Amino acid sequence: MSEVGTSMPNVTVRGPEVPRNIQALDPVFDVSGLSVFYGDYEAVRGVNMIIGNREITAMIGPSGCGKSTVLRCFNRMNDLIPGARAAGKITYHGEDLYGDHVDPIEVRRRIGMVFQKPNPFPKSIYDNIAYGPRVNGTKKGMDGIVEEALTKAALWDEVKDKLKQNALSLSGGQQQRLCIARAIAVKPEVILMDEPCSALDPIATTKIEDLMQELSRDYTIVIVTHNMQQAARVSDRTAFFTAEVDDSGVRHGRLVEYDETSRIFTNPSDKRTEDYITGRFG
Ligand SMILES: Nc1ncnc2c1ncn2[C@@H]1O[C@H](COP(=O)(O)OP(=O)(O)OP(=O)(O)O)[C@@H](O)[C@H]1O
Ligand SMILES: [Mg+2]
Repeated sequence: MSEVGTSMPNVTVRGPEVPRNIQALDPVFDVSGLSVFYGDYEAVRGVNMIIGNREITAMIGPSGCGKSTVLRCFNRMNDLIPGARAAGKITYHGEDLYGDHVDPIEVRRRIGMVFQKPNPFPKSIYDNIAYGPRVNGTKKGMDGIVEEALTKAALWDEVKDKLKQNALSLSGGQQQRLCIARAIAVKPEVILMDEPCSALDPIATTKIEDLMQELSRDYTIVIVTHNMQQAARVSDRTAFFTAEVDDSGVRHGRLVEYDETSRIFTNPSDKRTEDYITGRFG
């Protein structure tokens, strides 16, 4: 990856600067002036953010404000959407994530993703986990890799006697933990989660939240959630996004406020954040 990002054009619309206490973090991602377009539509404008190493960062805000769009920029998943384009700069460990010679496939290996709807492959539980390591050329020690990933994802005890069974036979909550295990099995550095618990019951949600806390010892996690309690419970930092209407009546997602989670939920500095977290909006 290159040191200096030249691949993304500069943008003029700037969002709020990153607060000093967050600037001091050990950054995994440093986002500055990020705007994301779908064709001519500027879905998100002028985002500045720093994602701290081995922290859990939550992104919250009303539907359509661009949370998933920003999340997908972190592992270049937006590259796969025809017409999608990012402007501004994102560095990953100080290197330009969108630099000319950066391989997006390698980026997605290092920065894994878990989606809202569990999406196991229609294969056995074992083969779901072994899939990524096999693609990466791992031949030996697969049993150990599978066990380790399933253990870390708090699923091993429930599936150890039925590893050959089709993964689609698992419950929704189990499937989501399987998907987390599948993401972990390729030893990523970062895990991005887009509303990973929205289809789960409170017990499965608690399991996933506990798992996130556990995983944050080794991994950097960025989570999008509509569940305010979840953001407050699990995350170290919270970014609140909303959609603003410009002079021409077009809506753009904006990062309103980004700070320590405790501050966002007890003493936010922007009225819009306060209205949202207290349920007066969205
Ligand atoms: N593939 C796409 N093509 C065109 N427009 C898109 C695409 N994906 C998202 N958008 C638009 O970008 C804006 C932000 O969408 P995004 O999905 O990022 O919002 P979100 O905050 O994740 O919403 P939700 O909470 O409902 O998941 C929306 O106006 C949406 O319609
Ligand atoms: Mg979304």
